[in-house]
Amino acid sequence: MTAILSVSDLHVHLGESHILQGVSFDVPDGGVTALLGRNGVGKTTTLRALMGLVDRRGRVELAGESIQAAATYRIVQRGVGYVPEDRDVFAGLTVAENLRLAERDGEPRYELVYELFPELRQRAKQRAGTLSGGQQQMVAIARALLNENRVLLVDEPTKGLAPLLVTEVARVLERVSELTTVLLVEQNLGVVARVARDVVVLDTGRVVHIGPAKELLADTSMVNRMLGVA
Ligand SMILES: Nc1ncnc2c1ncn2[C@@H]1O[C@H](COP(=O)(O)OP(=O)(O)OP(=O)(O)O)[C@@H](O)[C@H]1O
Ligand SMILES: [Mg+2]
Repeated sequence: MTAILSVSDLHVHLGESHILQGVSFDVPDGGVTALLGRNGVGKTTTLRALMGLVDRRGRVELAGESIQAAATYRIVQRGVGYVPEDRDVFAGLTVAENLRLAERDGEPRYELVYELFPELRQRAKQRAGTLSGGQQQMVAIARALLNENRVLLVDEPTKGLAPLLVTEVARVLERVSELTTVLLVEQNLGVVARVARDVVVLDTGRVVHIGPAKELLADTSMVNRMLGVA
């Protein structure tokens, strides 16, 4: 299987701390790969390093081309989309304005976005700051989907959402994964079970497990040991 994203020996220092200590993994082309691990092990830092948002050392290849030294805007231009942990929607702007700001070169895929998120069309003129957490998450994902990406990095999209919305986000991720490869940070193992084919598990800045999602999730003691949940 070909890797759309190949990460090897990635190191990140933040302040005095050596946060990523030689992270290596491949993201196969197509489907969802879940990046898992307990709180504070470096999942977000890994995504930020891939986006060039923190100083990093190591090798990162996008479809065989190295991007580890590229600036963030170049990485975005090359087709890496990012939905950050804190969503980062512009609260004072409307839904439509948030989407317009995300437009890049090429034809923005409004039809696709509004088909996936019909509610956003109805709420186009509403200020994003007045939306619920779930709706803001939809805006954040919609923004990334507006452009054609080769891979989408999505950081904890279900965090803090009510169960019904978690299901809704999982449904959207399934649809998204039919269009583009997704690297997903996710704490909700039900969501992982539903959408992910492969898993990469981090522990204190290192990869401790790579394999099929089914295999890990079926092994309660391994889940408990690696993720600290049963
Ligand atoms: N700016 C910073 N300076 C120093 N340490 C930092 C900084 N930002 C994050 N860290 C530390 O880096 C480690 C990894 O953080 P990171 O946010 O990548 O973890 P995470 O796996 O995404 O956690 P969570 O599940 O809570 O989102 C944590 O121990 C955190 O305290
Ligand atoms: Mg995080």
